[in-house]
Amino acid sequence: MTRNTAPEITPEKLYTSRREFIRALGVAGVSAAVLAACQEKPFLQGGEIPTDTGAAVPSPQAGSTTDEFGDTLTSYDDVIRYNNYYEFTTDKEGVARLAKNFQTSPWEVQIGGLVEKPSTLSIDEIRRRYPTEERIYRMRCVEGWSMVIPWQGFPLAALLEDVQPTSDAKYVRFESIFDPKELPGQKNKYFPWPYVEGLRLDEAYHDLTILATGLYGKDLLPQNGAPVRLVVPWKYGFKSIKSITKIDLVSEMPVSLWMESAPNEYGFYANVNPEVDHPRWSQATERRIGELSRRASLMFNGYEQEVTNIYEGMDLTKNF
Ligand code: MTE
Repeated sequence: MTRNTAPEITPEKLYTSRREFIRALGVAGVSAAVLAACQEKPFLQGGEIPTDTGAAVPSPQAGSTTDEFGDTLTSYDDVIRYNNYYEFTTDKEGVARLAKNFQTSPWEVQIGGLVEKPSTLSIDEIRRRYPTEERIYRMRCVEGWSMVIPWQGFPLAALLEDVQPTSDAKYVRFESIFDPKELPGQKNKYFPWPYVEGLRLDEAYHDLTILATGLYGKDLLPQNGAPVRLVVPWKYGFKSIKSITKIDLVSEMPVSLWMESAPNEYGFYANVNPEVDHPRWSQATERRIGELSRRASLMFNGYEQEVTNIYEGMDLTKNF
């Protein structure tokens, strides 16, 4: 169930709570190791496009100040000041300043690969074609912190339906902007830029999966991935790729930037799973930004009811 709440802009001051007291120290490190064999279970035959992608989207009332569990939204201030966006810097509190003048208009997104109707859409066209709705989602970073964010977005499925994936399409590959002149972090040769992420086709079609163009009723700021980013709330935050320029339907599992740079640490699925530790830290608990003590992390980030069915029969400790 979704709500069209685009015009209902919740006053920012309602959400502005205290700044967090303790800032996270964790910065995702990287190491080079051999890719752990990924025991992929076939999920769709012959490019079958899923029609029933699970239970309804959890839906607190439009303009709610909490998620469906009653947990308070993270303040706007924290959402726009505490960011992971390695194309700018690995310093979370430095991203906003460095990204301030990043030009996100004009902007084009190329959609192609294994589709009947490839297209290139300007961000204005995307906004016109796909009305947004509010989705209040938890975001759990792999580093062990989390937020509750009211996004404005639309189902990725709507865009995929328009380009018509062919029967060979099994995955969706996303690419962020590549522009080392404007993005100082891309001079860091350690990372295989551009930032790439991927989803299985059924994950991409799931109703929880959105492309977001705003949050808190305002257009996205550059630090949050303007002008358009992915949000997949049951997966670790790194799957939610920012500032997308390319979306390709492909037949092979895409290799993400994180799989390539730290394959022993980051798998393709990256579903939030408190039972599977990161090689260097536990994933059992998380620090909700704005709170003092840690809380238990939830399987699939609390979206278990909505997504469990798409992983039926898969060993999620191997397909991490
Ligand atoms: N997308 C790009 N292009 N570059 C990044 O460094 N960081 C990811 C994800 N998307 C990242 C990205 C990580 S690790 C997280 S936790 C979220 O964005 C953070 O989103 P936020 O800064 O809007 O909270």
